[in-house]
Amino acid sequence: MMMKKTTDMKLLYISLLTVLIFFAGTGVLTAQTIWLDELDLSAATQGYGMAGKNKTVDGKPLSIAGKIFERGFGTHAESSLSINLQGKVSSFSAQVGVDDEIKGQQPAVEFMVYGDAKKLWSSGIMRSGDEAKLCDLKLNGIQKLELVVSDGGNGNYYDHADWADAKFETLGLNTLATLNPVPKEPYILTPPAPAKPRINGTSIFGVRPGSPFLFRVPATGDRPMLFSASGLPEGLQIDANSGIITGKLEKKGTFIVLLRAKNAKGKAEKKFKITCGDQISLTPPMGWNSWNCFAGEVSAEKVMRAAMAMEKSGLVNHGWNYINIDDFWQNHRDAKDNSLRGELRDKDGNILPNSRFGDMKALADDVHRLGLKIGLYSSPGPWTCGGCVGSFGYELQDAKKYAEWGFDYLKYDWCSYGGVIDGMPGNDPYKIGSLSYHGGSQLATAVKPFKLMGDYLLQQPRDIVYSLCQYGMSDVWKWGGTAGGNAWRTTNDITDTWTSVKNIILAQDQSAQWAKPGNWNDPDMLVVGTVGWGNPHPSKLKPDEQYLHISLWSLFSAPLLIGCDMEKLDDFTLNLLTNDEVIALNQDPLGKQATCVHTIGDLRIYVKEMEDGSHAVGFCNFGLEKINISYKDFEKLGISGKVMARDLWRQKDIAKIKTEKEVLNIEVPIHGVALYKFSSVK
Ligand code: GLA
Repeated sequence: MMMKKTTDMKLLYISLLTVLIFFAGTGVLTAQTIWLDELDLSAATQGYGMAGKNKTVDGKPLSIAGKIFERGFGTHAESSLSINLQGKVSSFSAQVGVDDEIKGQQPAVEFMVYGDAKKLWSSGIMRSGDEAKLCDLKLNGIQKLELVVSDGGNGNYYDHADWADAKFETLGLNTLATLNPVPKEPYILTPPAPAKPRINGTSIFGVRPGSPFLFRVPATGDRPMLFSASGLPEGLQIDANSGIITGKLEKKGTFIVLLRAKNAKGKAEKKFKITCGDQISLTPPMGWNSWNCFAGEVSAEKVMRAAMAMEKSGLVNHGWNYINIDDFWQNHRDAKDNSLRGELRDKDGNILPNSRFGDMKALADDVHRLGLKIGLYSSPGPWTCGGCVGSFGYELQDAKKYAEWGFDYLKYDWCSYGGVIDGMPGNDPYKIGSLSYHGGSQLATAVKPFKLMGDYLLQQPRDIVYSLCQYGMSDVWKWGGTAGGNAWRTTNDITDTWTSVKNIILAQDQSAQWAKPGNWNDPDMLVVGTVGWGNPHPSKLKPDEQYLHISLWSLFSAPLLIGCDMEKLDDFTLNLLTNDEVIALNQDPLGKQATCVHTIGDLRIYVKEMEDGSHAVGFCNFGLEKINISYKDFEKLGISGKVMARDLWRQKDIAKIKTEKEVLNIEVPIHGVALYKFSSVK
């Protein structure tokens, strides 16, 4: 008996010790509350703005259906935040809803919670004014939690979404880590251009008879450099020092020219085809636009400085040549800023620039003297999206004025046109974007204002590249060309977030078959370098995301319009914008747009057929884990026989493969790309 008691005591003692050791070992002693706002919210990706800690995305107190919340995470769809729970969190709870700061709009969102990639909870579609919904979840054993806000199916306009009163009950943990495994350190892949001359950029150029001709031969290599050209048709001449070709061709025809450049280190030649006919913009326009950087703060001085930086940075030597002014060169209907106030038009109806611009012709001449081209912006409605005066009712007069000033590019933005669809200013001519798009789903209504301006531009005595901006409504890719458009936006405005760029990319395939020389799908401007819409900051895209962005815009044959402050180009951004082998994909004369032809998990493989019979392939990683694969499905990419695989960012041949029996080992960083060209070899 005695013996038994001692054994029992021992067992009890051992069990207690085991429990204590277990608790001490795991650190799990007591349940503990951790608030979501105590975590590093900067790991979140979201469609607009920055994550708000106890604040909305606009920095205001969190408020859902009139109820104020002290704590929480204010975000904007599409949004995702991942948290490492280590299996040691027992529950998560939050009150979710659309924030009250959005008035007079119709945002819709859906809040979702995923545990180890399985959907655990959804709020259903929530709209402005809906009372907060309680999300209350048991999470025992879950390693990774993802809080997602989707756009509710109607685009992410004004989708300000709050995870209010959000907290975790942990099993003794006193901190939790959010996850964003995308590396932050920039790294340079583009090799420096050689010292001897190399002629880069497009090899075809379209001009209409009678229009002024302007083309600056893009060539890298040491300066001084001397340029010449043989076979230039009568009417054109090249400046030997600058390589700028000017003049005028009176008759239609095709001319094969040999461009030459030489310096102390050597010489280079390149075949260049000039087509004088009906078509311009035979390869996608490349240049700069003021919007993503300066937005409403643009001025003639800033535009001219951008043009000079385009030359000084050497970007001109890689084919960059448009300097485009976006919104806010005109006077504004009711701005507080005096520099935007003044007569909208003169007594004869001619459009007047605001006081920040003054002499538009002088500005255009200065830009042309650098061998660059210049663009501007208007709307078919009475007001632009920013509230400056638009072209409604003055279309012909504006087209003539742009030509008289010497402009080469017009971006024409739907904006307030929704308010005047019936030909008369409606109740609210200030309405903007797709929200004003009542009636515009009818094809004729959608085409009309763009065709009108397109016809007037064609009547002008100079070539004006015509870029439609109406965010892809009514499948613009199917009719943009017949309205005279050279390019058209396919999607909503880009921002410098992964969610924005990813969603734009995923929407491009549907329009791909309509891209061709003279007609380009435009997924919007580039968000690399110092961007910020008047609020400058380094692009929030991670370095690998920026490689992916530039690679895909090149594969898509998209207009390449730099959106950053040209005077703040850092080495990493320059490396993104000066890789001539990558740019060559974009400027390929065949003008085909890549599509995604093969998907393996998060790996999306985009293929672009090139004029020389080769295939440019982007292996793009949309997931949160590095991809290492031995790729073998070449027939899916349309590639057969023996090929050389060339890494375009590194400008290096990497392997010769017999596609029928050999594999290619490919490593793709998280949110990054491996960009290759496959060319047949004998
Ligand atoms: C719209 C366009 C932008 C920019 C602004 C200007 O949002 O999509 O690219 O032109 O208008 O107000």
